[in-house]
Amino acid sequence: MPAGDRRLYPWASQGSLAPLTITRSSGSYFEDESGRRYLDLAGQLAYANIGHSHPRVVEAIRRQAAELPVIGPNFANRPATRLAEMLAEVTPGDLNRTFFTNGGTEANEYAIRMARAITGRQKIVTRYQSYHGSTLGAISATGENRRTFSEPGAYGFVHTLDPYRYRCPFCRDRDACSLACADALEATVVGEGPETVAAVLVEPVTGLSGLVVPPDGYLRRLRDLCDRHGILLIFDEVITGFCRTGRWFGSENWGVVPDIMTVAKGITSGYLPLGGTIVSDRLAAYFDSNYLGAGLTYAAHPLPCAAGCATLEVYLEENLAERAAETGAKLLARLRELAERHPSVGEVRGIGMLACLELVRDRDSREPLSPQRTEAAPSPAMAGVRKAIIGAGSWPLFRWNLVILAPPLNLSDQELEEGLAALEKGLAAADQAIA
Ligand SMILES: Cc1ncc(COP(=O)(O)O)c(C=O)c1O
Repeated sequence: MPAGDRRLYPWASQGSLAPLTITRSSGSYFEDESGRRYLDLAGQLAYANIGHSHPRVVEAIRRQAAELPVIGPNFANRPATRLAEMLAEVTPGDLNRTFFTNGGTEANEYAIRMARAITGRQKIVTRYQSYHGSTLGAISATGENRRTFSEPGAYGFVHTLDPYRYRCPFCRDRDACSLACADALEATVVGEGPETVAAVLVEPVTGLSGLVVPPDGYLRRLRDLCDRHGILLIFDEVITGFCRTGRWFGSENWGVVPDIMTVAKGITSGYLPLGGTIVSDRLAAYFDSNYLGAGLTYAAHPLPCAAGCATLEVYLEENLAERAAETGAKLLARLRELAERHPSVGEVRGIGMLACLELVRDRDSREPLSPQRTEAAPSPAMAGVRKAIIGAGSWPLFRWNLVILAPPLNLSDQELEEGLAALEKGLAAADQAIA
């Protein structure tokens, strides 16, 4: 721990921590107090989509702070009104009304509560490899191991299997995916009794819980299932939103529109805390005559909303969706080249500027380089990979046996090469560990 640091840090046993103190950041880099620079291959926690210290957003925050830094949530304020309008324009279908929150956790909390209020049903079906946030409802919706600390949690959450083809219990050894993962989710809904299910809540592409890209046809199957049973479909686009996957929203890659979309992170590129529960016109109409029992002191706060407006302008003006698609295609191709050279890479997967390397001890058995779905310390082999990559000046995300990449969407070709060179050092360490 840095001397005199009395903070408690998230998701960690405190004793073993040695966090760096970061003092500045710019573009694709952040810098610690000793002046050492790191290439931000993680986009912090997959949110620094426009990079660090973008002058347009910094200036928008400064201007808003000078004009109206504080106003309560029951007043309208110009940045919040404008941001809700901009969101209606960039989101698909008739997702036109936004309840603003402080982040993704609360956005999911309200999505769940709205779905329960509107349908009069209680159950929420989610998946094991998912993270939806850290408060009691959102962590109960979460499927992965970060949930266990908070169990038994809230009631009414049912988990089911994921479309994780690399370790699919149904069809990983077949040539083509059989969408048995969608059958499994449907069987869960049917088993629970569809008339008791308020919503199916999924990340269109699983983020930090395994980076699972669904097979074509999967999200459409969920849409049809929900329509047949009067169940609401909620997409958690907290990571996949705002151009990360090469489209404005991840679900647009498959042309499927949810009833509720939750967003955060990229909405301000992380410059100030903000999230939103975005609902269709049809659902919003329910609250014209029914009470909306939702509120936060800082809901629709003018400062983050001003940052949000400026961030969305950057996405539009710098064509970051297209850029993410282009650079993301290069990134995936180059990662696949790395994989050919390094036997420790079991699989490369991703979409747009969201990608991961899944590391294994053996390509045939697919034994993970570090155990999955546990908060236990990483294996020495995985710790060695981390040390080599960070030692080479790049900072991706490390989870279990995964190296996850979610860099700024405006990463230059030169920065991409710099990051790949650092990753290669990590893979050399992994190869050595399994030799
Ligand atoms: C997919 C997803 N949903 C929800 C959340 C929670 O968002 P927040 O940490 O802003 O509350 C996260 C955070 O990482 C996330 O990745």
